[in-house]
Amino acid sequence: MAQNTERARAAQATPTARAGQVGGTATAPWPTLPAPSSPAGQSPQTASVPQEARRGGAASRKVAVVTGAGSGIGRAVAHALIAEDWSVVLAGRRAEALAETARLVGLTDVNSPTVMTVPTDVTRPDQVDALFAAVQERFNHLDLLFNNAGTFGRTVPLEELSYDDWRSVVEVNLTGSFLCAQAAFRAMKAQDPQGGRIINNGSISAHTPRPHSVAYTATKHAMTGLTKSLSLDGRPYRIACGQIDVGNAATEMTGRMQTGILQANGQTAVEPVMDAADVARTVVHMAALPLEANVQFATVLATNMPYIGRG
Ligand SMILES: NC(=O)c1ccc[n+]([C@@H]2O[C@H](COP(=O)([O-])OP(=O)(O)OC[C@H]3O[C@@H](n4cnc5c(N)ncnc54)[C@H](OP(=O)(O)O)[C@@H]3O)[C@@H](O)[C@H]2O)c1
Repeated sequence: MAQNTERARAAQATPTARAGQVGGTATAPWPTLPAPSSPAGQSPQTASVPQEARRGGAASRKVAVVTGAGSGIGRAVAHALIAEDWSVVLAGRRAEALAETARLVGLTDVNSPTVMTVPTDVTRPDQVDALFAAVQERFNHLDLLFNNAGTFGRTVPLEELSYDDWRSVVEVNLTGSFLCAQAAFRAMKAQDPQGGRIINNGSISAHTPRPHSVAYTATKHAMTGLTKSLSLDGRPYRIACGQIDVGNAATEMTGRMQTGILQANGQTAVEPVMDAADVARTVVHMAALPLEANVQFATVLATNMPYIGRG
């Protein structure tokens, strides 16, 4: 288990106790967020930890925000962090998917010190602000942002991609990642002790495109610029930033790898996939380093996928 230090100070926090919940049961005395309006019409937030827990075990845990935590890699990383004794704030648009992430590791107990779910659309500045305000109110500290929410967008020839298709991918993958990183950066710079870590989820498409993926590829290349800027601008404040570039973890997004996906040579081929838990293990390793050390870029891919040599 990872040792969580520097956190006893958070035990001093005494925010207003209000209703909270995991999985739809509102019972715990816990802070309620200002309500961001969810496009899915969902409850704006849930919470689960009673005030006593924050003063005890919860206060000694490191705190992570994971976006896109309701599925795939985000869910796997949330589970891996929870297993390493982190408190994890689960963010994504679908409240029920976030609650399921908590339930899958047995966190149906609203008194769990481990998890808070905050339905958030990362493309909405007001909702991102509300997410990080909730983290501040509840934990008074932030150690890690796993900037993971993303979308592949429509797979169509470049000349057929509509403006709206382009924009929807840019808004999630780039603007949403920037908004979350900026909010985390502000919190990490302002807090005492100062500092923290941001891990951006890039892709092997941050290096090499697939056919018909201009929006995804462009935004994932842009993620590398975001990572480098955060790394440089974070130096004075003990804010480290790294990027994980994944290839073919088995998730909803990569369903087509298992049925057949267009290759650079025009053929369609089934590609090998790997378990998202293997990505999560790597993220946890990056997250557990002291702030004086940083994995700047890590590439984790299905060993036999046609990446090396695909271009
Ligand atoms: N799987 C791979 O092999 C692979 C490879 C390279 C990179 N990646 C990257 O890994 C990340 C996660 O992908 P995944 O494979 O785990 O696919 P996934 O299961 O489809 O996960 C995408 C997540 O992003 C969230 N999301 C999408 N739009 C959002 C928005 N506007 N606001 C908040 N959350 C939003 C979704 O949750 P809601 O729908 O509930 O909002 C979902 O949980 C992505 O950034 C992807 O580019 C994956």
